[in-house]
Amino acid sequence: MAGAFGPFQDRADGLICHYSRPMPSVYIKTYGCQMNERDSEAVAAQLVAKGYTLAPSEAVADVILLNTCSVRDFAEQKALNKMVNVIAETRRNRPETVLGFMGCMAQNRGQELIDRLPDVDLVLGTQKFHRAADYLDELLAGRREKIVDVAAEQGSEATIREHLLYGNAAKNGDGRRLPLQVTAFVSIMQGCNQYCTFCIVPYTRGEERSRSIPDIVAECRQLVSQGVKEITLLGQIVTSYGKRRFGVVAGVPPAVEPGVPPGGWTPNSSNRLEISYIVPGGKMPPSTAGGTPAATSPFVQLLDAVHEIEGLERIRFTSPHPKGYGDDLIEAYARLPKLVESAHLPVQSGSDRVLKLMHRGYTRARYVGIIDKLRRARPEIGISTDIIVGFPGETEDDFQRTLSLAREIEFDQAYIFKYSQRRDTPAAEMPDQVPQKIREERNQRLLDVINKIAGRRYGAFMGRQTQILVEGPSKKNPARMTGRTRCNKIVVFDPAGGENRGQLIDVKITRAGSFTLYGDPAIVSP
Ligand code: 5AD
Repeated sequence: MAGAFGPFQDRADGLICHYSRPMPSVYIKTYGCQMNERDSEAVAAQLVAKGYTLAPSEAVADVILLNTCSVRDFAEQKALNKMVNVIAETRRNRPETVLGFMGCMAQNRGQELIDRLPDVDLVLGTQKFHRAADYLDELLAGRREKIVDVAAEQGSEATIREHLLYGNAAKNGDGRRLPLQVTAFVSIMQGCNQYCTFCIVPYTRGEERSRSIPDIVAECRQLVSQGVKEITLLGQIVTSYGKRRFGVVAGVPPAVEPGVPPGGWTPNSSNRLEISYIVPGGKMPPSTAGGTPAATSPFVQLLDAVHEIEGLERIRFTSPHPKGYGDDLIEAYARLPKLVESAHLPVQSGSDRVLKLMHRGYTRARYVGIIDKLRRARPEIGISTDIIVGFPGETEDDFQRTLSLAREIEFDQAYIFKYSQRRDTPAAEMPDQVPQKIREERNQRLLDVINKIAGRRYGAFMGRQTQILVEGPSKKNPARMTGRTRCNKIVVFDPAGGENRGQLIDVKITRAGSFTLYGDPAIVSP
């Protein structure tokens, strides 16, 4: 591939030359978590801002990027196989197509990816998303043959900020466009310092780094001014937000179980409160008014600041860590009406012995205690979680404890993962690796329990009236619309007329399917 879209040189007067051919189109396929979705959106938005178009499919794209996940081997294999297929197709019919890996597997494997698949042109690490446009320009213009950039970059946590609310849509005659989304993800931090023994994320995403509150609030405000009604704050461990940037906030003890090692988090006392908008004490929850001021953590201060934004209707966040789930965050649920009744709180195991081997930093009792308090603060709250089955050394007795935890908590939803050995993580070297067959069998047994409980919890919505935010036409059947309840359940409905994307409406639930509810707005508002 060389020089397909030249000339790309900047002119001496600083203006960019027009391309001799139409601007290239890009197709990004995303694997993995919401953080990856968000990174892909930011890269796409940066490219669109430079004049690229978004290809409707990979079959017609000039640039194909795979944004990858490394959390399990399965996710890596999926992306590798995909690239093998893409290479076979493009090299036969469209050899000029630029092919790239980005994200976690790119970071994790670097040059190795090109050694293995020499048709790949670009390998872009997790701290380099903002360089995508420059690198593609160089590759497309034929100035460089291959680019691998997986270096760390200071300040990269603040570079995931552009959004693509309008897709490819051009402005209308009056300069206005209708956003295609009324919900948006906002990345508040990057990296992770927890070093759970099973997890590759600290190695693919680097050290924990947080953006500043004003920077995040400015991005949220901008989104709201463009029609966004619901914002999800994203980070690998959002409850650690700001702790390294701002140090320990006076009065907030690190929320760890006494006697449980605090994991990878090391409070840095020389780094206290260097920024004035992190106020010791933060906003005072009403329950403490008149008493000793309770301090709030940087994350809760961020929630308070985002909550002030006029026009924003709903706030979500993912993922918190049980270790950092302090009472100030529970109080925030009681105090902030825009913070919806929904919490995704990864538990990973119901066995204290396994939690310790995983280096999670909390016990089952602490986890159950947090859920109890959350349900007391917001009885309607929807709780979801992540659980790993077949962690090294997990016995039948340990697994039974996970089953009993699932029954005790009654999750609305749980994402179950079969343990996957990740290179250079401590658990990969642990004795007593659980045979694949047992991992699969436990996965199925847990799934049965989870599904049964979730079915019951979804069924309990039948006949109830609930508020949803209308997100737009259903992907499966565009004649129908979808929305989401505050407790994060998808509701599909036949429009009664006049329901538009971005509206908050009441529907009556008429049917409960598997992780989907069906509603009727007409019954509520004839
Ligand atoms: N094997 C299986 N599941 C894993 N997860 C993270 N690392 C692994 C691994 N090595 C799961 C955890 C985490 C979710 C995003 O992925 O449950 O919360």
